[in-house]
Amino acid sequence: MNETVLRKLEQRLGGRLYARQRLGIESDHEAQIFGQGLTFFHIENWYSIHSVIRALLKLTGLYWRGRANAARVQVRDNNLHCKRLPPEFDGFTLLHMSDFHADMNDGAMRRLEEILPGLSYDLCVLTGDYRGATFGQYDSALASLRQVISLIKQPIFGVLGNHDTIRMVPDLEVMGIRMLLNEAEAITRADARIYLAGIDDAHYFRVDNIEKAASEIPHQAFSMLLSHTPEIYRQAAHAGFDLLLSGHTHGGQICLPGSVPITLGSILPRKFGAGAWTYHEMAGYTSVGVGSSIVTVRINCLPEITLHHLWCVKGGPPFSFSKDGGPR
Ligand SMILES: [Fe+2]
Repeated sequence: MNETVLRKLEQRLGGRLYARQRLGIESDHEAQIFGQGLTFFHIENWYSIHSVIRALLKLTGLYWRGRANAARVQVRDNNLHCKRLPPEFDGFTLLHMSDFHADMNDGAMRRLEEILPGLSYDLCVLTGDYRGATFGQYDSALASLRQVISLIKQPIFGVLGNHDTIRMVPDLEVMGIRMLLNEAEAITRADARIYLAGIDDAHYFRVDNIEKAASEIPHQAFSMLLSHTPEIYRQAAHAGFDLLLSGHTHGGQICLPGSVPITLGSILPRKFGAGAWTYHEMAGYTSVGVGSSIVTVRINCLPEITLHHLWCVKGGPPFSFSKDGGPR
């Protein structure tokens, strides 16, 4: 264990326990195929199958089209009309990016460098999976990500995914990303406040703590939660969050015609696998992600970044989505 990184993490997290717990789980279960986390089987950790999938795609003639698709990052708009949003935040826009897997998605990263300077937003959120693999070195992922982050306006908030080690946190924060490790921050506009919380990975490492993240948020305040995986939608809704932003599923990444996923790699109803959805009084959005993992291909599921436009409405249901949402 790198003592310098551990000391930095302990300082950042205000104690020894959480950093040691996360690092311990990482070293015990790193790249385990069966048994750890919410799902029993983890294809992302079965590295010998990756070349088999690649060969199968080449045989079926889908590989090169899928590879080109992996760089075709789209901008999607999600217009969300919220009854509880303070009027001062009417028109507030969040740029949401997820699942970079930056070291294995050069094409998508170059595409981001083209798109990002032309976008207008108030705040940026990143919902995890910065690294390609689930173990080993992370320097090349951080180097590739650094170029993209330099093009994003502050403030930037992020959470870790199941491909990320907590060792990356000090470097991510030096880049200017405020990592939310079961923590929350207030966002202020005029005299009004809304809250943004973020939890650590709930899918594989299971080090999420919604109670801790929500503990500083005043009752009845408008609040948003960042989680790499949407699998915690029930806990988030019953904790009183208004909006859950997540990624992880890649929308299936390799899909049948009509964007029907073969697998979402999650324990999740299909309707929560991609795009906008609601659960009880909470709205949610699952980004299909910027990058691709396992094999750098996308079939019937193009990568995306998302602009969530929040609008204040009086009366009606807690949330509604505009029908004009979709790729630009
Ligand atoms: Fe991912």
